[in-house]
Amino acid sequence: MSKKIFSGVQPTGNLHLGNYLGAIKNFVDLNNDDQNKCIFCVVDLHAITIKQDKHELRNNIRETTATFIASGIDPTKSIIFDQSKVHAHAEGAWFLSCMAPMGWLNRMTQFKEKAGKDKEKASIGLYIYPILMASDILLYDTTHVPVGEDQKQHLELTRDLAQKFNKDFNCEDFLRVPEPLIKKHFSRIMSLKDGKKKMSKSDPSDFSRINLTDTKDEIVNKIKKAKTDSLPIPYEDQKLKDRPEAENLLGIYSSISDQNLDKSLEEFGGKNFSDLKNQLAEVLLSKISPISDEIKKLINDYEYLDKVLADGVNKAEEIAGKKIVEMKKIIGF
Ligand code: TYM
Repeated sequence: MSKKIFSGVQPTGNLHLGNYLGAIKNFVDLNNDDQNKCIFCVVDLHAITIKQDKHELRNNIRETTATFIASGIDPTKSIIFDQSKVHAHAEGAWFLSCMAPMGWLNRMTQFKEKAGKDKEKASIGLYIYPILMASDILLYDTTHVPVGEDQKQHLELTRDLAQKFNKDFNCEDFLRVPEPLIKKHFSRIMSLKDGKKKMSKSDPSDFSRINLTDTKDEIVNKIKKAKTDSLPIPYEDQKLKDRPEAENLLGIYSSISDQNLDKSLEEFGGKNFSDLKNQLAEVLLSKISPISDEIKKLINDYEYLDKVLADGVNKAEEIAGKKIVEMKKIIGF
């Protein structure tokens, strides 16, 4: 079946192994299936929900674009564009905001995590960010949204908003209710320093994550220093229950090697962490270093990257522009 795919990544720097294994690697597989129509968005409007330096923001928009291409997304097959250039996204977010009950947003756990203790000081943008995400998705009649596990709740909200809009304005099926594409396994990659915390761009310790631009030495060093426990690797997955670091390293190894967890347990069961770490570093070098080299090559080619984005904007604008006109008519403008 032909799928309409939409997903986005924030250009906030430090794209890491979690972004790659949870999302971008899947984008590449979806892009490679000729039946799919894929749109990958550099969500710069989402990025400014937290204060950004304007020069860094521009660089990060290009770096995220370079990362998509370096990972294997073909910009002649998929649309790659920057969100702020297609006005319909912000407009659609406003329309959806006007019908989204605050109670639904109050349930969003990511806002609570990101806002931290001093919620009153967090921006309104951060609070309504899932509505902008819903607008992104719904403007393109998206059927499937590939994301990591942390975006699950936002996708549920997107589905609820689509259904509410269709019901409130009596326009059945106008906004397509999308399906999440979240991998059953390894859809939440954890920090290398704490197996109970998500691997994240904002973790102050660079040793908590493998960045997609890390050098070979950095990758090897970070894996060497990754937290472990004192027991050997178990033979069965039930034995991983209270061993988050072991589970995470085995998960990363399985995901990047495209094999299931049982196979990895068979490979490493009874062995020490040093065996797993050596092997993991080797696979990471073979899979991540070529991407990292390519990002570094592409990042200097502003002309090419800006052209990819500009072409993408034209194509995205054509689709989203039409949808927003229809949406306005339905509302009564
Ligand atoms: P963002 O930029 O935080 O992350 C981009 C993608 O990476 C996934 N991800 C992870 N997956 C596994 N383990 C991790 N540790 C990990 N960290 C990040 C995220 O789940 C995501 O898929 N709101 C979104 C961006 C967005 C979007 C959209 C996504 C805006 N509009 C429309 C899909 C559709 C975000 O902030 O992702």
